[in-house]
Amino acid sequence: MPLDDRCHYKGRPRVARHRASASPLRKALMSMRLQQALQTLLDSAPLLRDASSSGNVRVLASLLGPAFRGFVQRRGKGVVSTDISVGYEASFNWSYGRDDPDMARLYHLAKTSQWDAATDLDWSRSVDWLDPAMPLLPDGWMPPSKLPAWGRLSERERATQRHGLLSWMLSQFLHGEQGALFAASQITECVPSLDAKLYGSTQVADEGRHVEVFHAYLTQKLEKLYEINDNLYVVIDAIMSDGRWDMKFLGMQIMIEGLALGAFGSIRQVTSEPLLKDVLRSVITDEARHVHYGVLALSRFYREGIDERARREREDWAFDLSVLLRNRFLAHEFYDEFYAHRMTRCAWDELMLQSDLMGFFRRTMFRRIVPNLKRIGLLSARMRPRYASLGLLEYEHGRAASELTAKELLDDA
Ligand SMILES: [Fe+2]
Ligand SMILES: [Fe+2]
Repeated sequence: MPLDDRCHYKGRPRVARHRASASPLRKALMSMRLQQALQTLLDSAPLLRDASSSGNVRVLASLLGPAFRGFVQRRGKGVVSTDISVGYEASFNWSYGRDDPDMARLYHLAKTSQWDAATDLDWSRSVDWLDPAMPLLPDGWMPPSKLPAWGRLSERERATQRHGLLSWMLSQFLHGEQGALFAASQITECVPSLDAKLYGSTQVADEGRHVEVFHAYLTQKLEKLYEINDNLYVVIDAIMSDGRWDMKFLGMQIMIEGLALGAFGSIRQVTSEPLLKDVLRSVITDEARHVHYGVLALSRFYREGIDERARREREDWAFDLSVLLRNRFLAHEFYDEFYAHRMTRCAWDELMLQSDLMGFFRRTMFRRIVPNLKRIGLLSARMRPRYASLGLLEYEHGRAASELTAKELLDDA
């Protein structure tokens, strides 16, 4: 989607506000909920268009259910838990064949690289996010720093917003890690290869540890936790509810983990907060194995196990997810808290999309994702012009996850 088209919904018809009347309370509440749902759907129009940019009807159909549950029903919001139906078959392997030496090596590496979130990090350190000598994020990473109003804020107000934006980002990482925990356990059940199942068991432990560590940092150190972003909910719902094991791999291990690797590395590079740097270093070391796992499992399966039509669907699905990830993580929950009374959401989206923060994220994220898509065979001649139109083809010659060590990833965030 061209960037200058992103606010086409500017001036969209607003849903009429509920008029106060003598209607029964229940009727009024239902009406308000319907209005809110319709407004959310209208606000989501650009995202739904992004989700169908490949024009593949099967892909669009697979994303409609998650989009309805995420944007209209808002199942991730205002509740303590959400149930998502998962439809897949567990695959028992009775041959116990150990026929994948690369996967076996990765399993061995994972077993010898485990760490304890409670004892291997020094949690006794306090985090003073108001200390101007140790900003959580640099001002250049704060999209509102481009506004004249930013200069009029006190140092305390700026620190509060840096704290808010970092808490929002880390909260989304936490929710993503819970999705990764479930996806890893599902993949372990349904992937056919025994070596892949054994490796998967270590990833379940890794992702549980990541949930633990991000939750501890957010609640004990930052003391702030945001709800899941609607767009992230849709992506996680789509991965959970798709019954095909390779789609779970593709969505979680290649796309979401690729995004996470880029984001974790970027934040680790720019934050001045020492405990957060340590948390991210430990998590990145694990995530490097996870993306490697996805590349190993899928490059073999896509080379030998699917027909042309199925390959096209995977290519289109990965492309649509790329567009979603590229355009739609716009921190609306942060906007609602700090800027909704100052500017329209469309103006906010403009600010975010043009910000150094988004530019930085896109570069680091697709530097990881695109070479992996190429390695697993989903960057065919048919797809190349589409990625080129998004400016993403420049990353195709980078090294895939299977060619990078954790140390190289840490040094090269
Ligand atoms: Fe993780
Ligand atoms: Fe992971």
